[in-house]
Amino acid sequence: MRTLKLGAAGPVSSALGLGCMGMSALYGEADRDESIATIHAALDAGVTLLDTGDFYAMGHNELLIGEALRSAPAAHREKALTSVKFGALRDPDGGWAGYDGRPAAVKNFAAYSLQRLGVDHIDVYRIARVDETVPIEETVGAIAELVEKGHVRHIGLSEVSAETLRRAAAVAPISDLQIEYSLISRGIEDEILPTAAELGIGVTAYGVLSRGLISGHFERDRKLAANDFRGVSPRFQGENLQRNLDLVDALRKIADAKGVSVAQIAIAWVLAQGPRFGASIVPLVGARRRDRLAEALGALDVRLDAGDLAAVEEAVPAGAAAGDRYPEAQMAHLDSER
Ligand SMILES: NC(=O)c1ccc[n+]([C@@H]2O[C@H](COP(=O)([O-])OP(=O)(O)OC[C@H]3O[C@@H](n4cnc5c(N)ncnc54)[C@H](OP(=O)(O)O)[C@@H]3O)[C@@H](O)[C@H]2O)c1
Repeated sequence: MRTLKLGAAGPVSSALGLGCMGMSALYGEADRDESIATIHAALDAGVTLLDTGDFYAMGHNELLIGEALRSAPAAHREKALTSVKFGALRDPDGGWAGYDGRPAAVKNFAAYSLQRLGVDHIDVYRIARVDETVPIEETVGAIAELVEKGHVRHIGLSEVSAETLRRAAAVAPISDLQIEYSLISRGIEDEILPTAAELGIGVTAYGVLSRGLISGHFERDRKLAANDFRGVSPRFQGENLQRNLDLVDALRKIADAKGVSVAQIAIAWVLAQGPRFGASIVPLVGARRRDRLAEALGALDVRLDAGDLAAVEEAVPAGAAAGDRYPEAQMAHLDSER
């Protein structure tokens, strides 16, 4: 497994990380045994970075990761890095109730996460969305106190603007910004990604397959469960979905010609952007089955030369996606979109 340093202040991570969200929430039913087997297979393959959020099914995802870590060989467990998001408030009906980045809340969230994960420290800790009522300096300052006490090793951010990156980095060293980045979500390239590179902050890119939309496996007539985020995501609706899947068809021609899969091209494209922008970028793949994980890991062996990259960008030009990456109400919470 290739490794890279996640930003000047961050840990050394595997070149691909495993995003565990879909094993508990947001993409319909998941199989618990297969989820744990997928985490074990990832660790076995040398993936060290496991990403979660305390609000993914209200602690379920952290408990799952904790169980997987406990039942993994000690050598794998010791190398694993936990990357945890906090701050999203839930209600008993599963609704979303805003964000809390107050220092006392940060420490409370961390205490519960450590317990659920069954670990003595969290490797990278970050607020999922900026709490607009609390200056980012205070939220980051609270995580810095957790670092001082040894409960957290590194400070991350999620979905923030270039300005917020600078403000946060002035308080304490920041390891990485977690943010959506894919062939069809390239909004960070103008300002956020160059700023991260300038400040020596790494990027953990999520939605690299745009939640399965550009994985090559998403069927045009797929029926989604009622609790599946994609049922409300603008990119998966009606005409938008059909237009986005037309882009995937164009990508498939390139993948077929190279003898690789569509998902592998999409992941390899993100991997290729790190050197281009002088940034350390680690794609977080949302595999929740071993076969999908194996496919994603195969992307590490896909070399895209200048001609391939030009062909990919001609098939899926920047800004070609139909529909926003979140529903309107959730777009409003994205500091990164301001
Ligand atoms: N910071 C944030 O705001 C934020 C937001 C969202 C997610 N995240 C993190 O980022 C992680 C990744 O995000 P994501 O799950 O949206 O990413 P993704 O990798 O773009 O999408 C995962 C989806 O793609 C499908 N897929 C098809 N082929 C795949 C393959 N070979 N490998 C992996 N997935 C494949 C999976 O479908 P099937 O399971 O149906 O096969 C799954 O539903 C999450 O798990 C979470 O930890 C962070």
